[in-house]
Amino acid sequence: MPPTPSWLEIAVFYEIYPQTFFDSNGDGIGDLAGILQKLEYLQYLGVNAIWLNPCFASPFQDAGYDVSNYYQVAPRYGTNADLEKLFAEAHRLGMHIFLDLVPGHTSVENAWFKESCRPQPNEYSDWYIWTDSVWTWSAPGVQTVIGYAQRNANYITNFFHFQPALNYGFAVLDPKHPWQQPVDAPGPRAVRKELRNIMKFWLDRGADGFRVDMAGSLVKHDADGKATAAVWQEIRRWLDRDYPQAALVSEWSRPTVAIPAGFHMDFMLPFARNGYNSLFRLFDPDDHTNTSFFHPNGGGDIRFFLDEYLVNFRSTREQGLIAIPSGNHDTTPRLGNERTPADLQLAFLFLLTMPGVPFLYYGDEIGMRSADGLESKEGAYDRTGARTPMQWDDSANAGFSTAPAEALYLPVEAKPRHRTVAAQRDDPESLLNHVRKLIELRKEHPALGASGSFKPVHAEKNAYPFVYTRTGGGETVLVALNPAKSPCGVTLPGTLSKKPPQTLYGTENVFQRQGRKWLLKLPGVSGGLYLLS
Ligand code: GLC
Ligand code: CA
Repeated sequence: MPPTPSWLEIAVFYEIYPQTFFDSNGDGIGDLAGILQKLEYLQYLGVNAIWLNPCFASPFQDAGYDVSNYYQVAPRYGTNADLEKLFAEAHRLGMHIFLDLVPGHTSVENAWFKESCRPQPNEYSDWYIWTDSVWTWSAPGVQTVIGYAQRNANYITNFFHFQPALNYGFAVLDPKHPWQQPVDAPGPRAVRKELRNIMKFWLDRGADGFRVDMAGSLVKHDADGKATAAVWQEIRRWLDRDYPQAALVSEWSRPTVAIPAGFHMDFMLPFARNGYNSLFRLFDPDDHTNTSFFHPNGGGDIRFFLDEYLVNFRSTREQGLIAIPSGNHDTTPRLGNERTPADLQLAFLFLLTMPGVPFLYYGDEIGMRSADGLESKEGAYDRTGARTPMQWDDSANAGFSTAPAEALYLPVEAKPRHRTVAAQRDDPESLLNHVRKLIELRKEHPALGASGSFKPVHAEKNAYPFVYTRTGGGETVLVALNPAKSPCGVTLPGTLSKKPPQTLYGTENVFQRQGRKWLLKLPGVSGGLYLLS
């Protein structure tokens, strides 16, 4: 069953951190006019959807995830009119744009919060979660910030101390803390209504949907996520009715909860030592060995990823899509660290042939590396290194900005060398051109679309290769991956394909007929996409 809305079927998203993508006016920070100028590049790359990190008015204590006004573009990025222009131009080019929606908390600078802090009861008193007195210093399962307001109470924070939690109520009320409100109290009801107003405001101006920040964080004491899911289900019903072409992707990393909650897509995220993490970022902190599956030393285990993925995939398939990102603004190291272009080609062969919707983090398509040892910027801490300027060419500041180097939002990665767009654009064997080719194949082959079926063919514990098929639109393609530097081989059932599989991408002549079977032999660090018949 193809997803709703149907444009998701061949969507390939590109995440843009506006601060460091392209600076159009030389003040050292990226902006919307800069993104507009680079739409041509995104078209060339082949991506057809964009996720913009928060671009609303904010004191930027957490890079914009601390919104002071949801209805106004941050002046440093431009105006509301600039954002509308970006939507219009993207639509003209057949692209979609998601904004980043932060529903769970605001900045302390938000006018709603300032009102809520006042000792005099007012419209906003219950928009945030407040304890009953300033002497109630803690409560189980929530974080309090003590003595901030004139109001004789403490507030609950959702993330950093300056991100007060909006009041969506508590799923389970703690009798010892009568200040906790149920989800149907007037405060939570008003907050839910406002959330919809914000979404409507931007959808009416051209946004195609939202990436939803900390989507599972709304209702407190909601261990199974059911009460928070109910909030989203209501929103989904409204979207289906009034904005059927709009879509949502959640930062939840629990597809079995997020998809039934109404999200069109849910991200796999490296929240812990989980399966997604084991693909690209599994380090042993003691002996510094890399046991990611996509690493040439070949110490990975695809089952770590697959066992987790299949549970999620099978139980959500009919309802929504899983989004596997190449990285994001919270994730270090970047995919490009410790990997050669050949290693990265295989990572992208995987990312761009899996079911669901792929998300590329800006710069990953040219193998950008995250920088080490940068001082924290705007609350990024150890995430800072993954947010350095996009590397366009080898002019000053890698072509990101004409500002003096010391005025940049963040310094350019120390040695960009060939990891720039200009260096790779004209080289047919560059990573950039491989990524372009893979995106093109994904769009051309219905089997590779979001809803095409997925079947592991060879995926053994602690072994290489990883082989799977995708089927859809009357065709079946096979993906074979050997990220390890040692060659490997497996026998596959002869029934897989009558004729020798046709190479669509990657290493040729890897199949040999052996009696009733196919022998698949892959050299070290190789792989490909093959059409079966
Ligand atoms: C999400 C964002 C992250 C932010 C946090 C608080 O995890 O991706 O960047 O700091 O939420 O809003
Ligand atoms: Ca600028």
